[in-house]
Amino acid sequence: MSSFQDERKKDQFFLKAKREGFRSRASYKLAQIQDHFKIIPHGGLVVDLGAAPGGWSQMASDVVGNGGVVIALDIKDIAPFRRKNIIRLKYDMREEKLAEIIHEHIDGEVDTVLCDVAGDVTGNWTLDHNRQIYLVQLALTASFRILREGGNFVSKVFQGEYVNKLEEVVKKCFEEVSWYKPTASRKKSAEVYIVAKRYNGKKLDPIEEME
Ligand SMILES: C[S@@+](CC[C@H](N)C(=O)[O-])C[C@H]1O[C@@H](n2cnc3c(N)ncnc32)[C@H](O)[C@@H]1O
Repeated sequence: MSSFQDERKKDQFFLKAKREGFRSRASYKLAQIQDHFKIIPHGGLVVDLGAAPGGWSQMASDVVGNGGVVIALDIKDIAPFRRKNIIRLKYDMREEKLAEIIHEHIDGEVDTVLCDVAGDVTGNWTLDHNRQIYLVQLALTASFRILREGGNFVSKVFQGEYVNKLEEVVKKCFEEVSWYKPTASRKKSAEVYIVAKRYNGKKLDPIEEME
């Protein structure tokens, strides 16, 4: 596909998000992941890491419905939602108490952890990859403390050196692991999503495992 067509596709999702009241075109990445893998159960408890401005949380909120809850966490402020089943938390994932902070706001174990986190991109692929992998490691570490057995995990990953090691760790802890690039993701972007289903309860330290 030419870059012109790619741009037009980007606009399509941007316009669709505006029209349908979603805060980001990224919402449709999660919609496609959900269509394909069914990672969010109706009535479920979902944690969305790196949630601002909130498109994924809105989409997840629609899937879980009134009987479910979505925790939307970001280092930035997230504007209030009309949907009543989203709890907003302002928190830097690099702080040590990520799992504890989430536990303070939920009653029970989490069905699905979503992680679309990304720091400011520098354009240096290696640096951006390394920084983002660290955030995914933190997301996984927290997931091993908050996910129920059988729960699911999805994360954005920038392609690069540590992708295979990350996959190895994830495969040790989940029964089904796939890589997926939604069509709503820009073709030229280095991002892909790791989709991990059915957590087996193992509590590894992803940082140690990947050294
Ligand atoms: C691509 S955006 C997420 C978009 C979101 N999924 C949506 O649909 O609206 C990535 C988010 O990660 C957040 N982020 C980056 N570093 C973070 C950190 N250390 N702790 C928490 N959030 C972080 C950014 O503030 C940003 O809002």
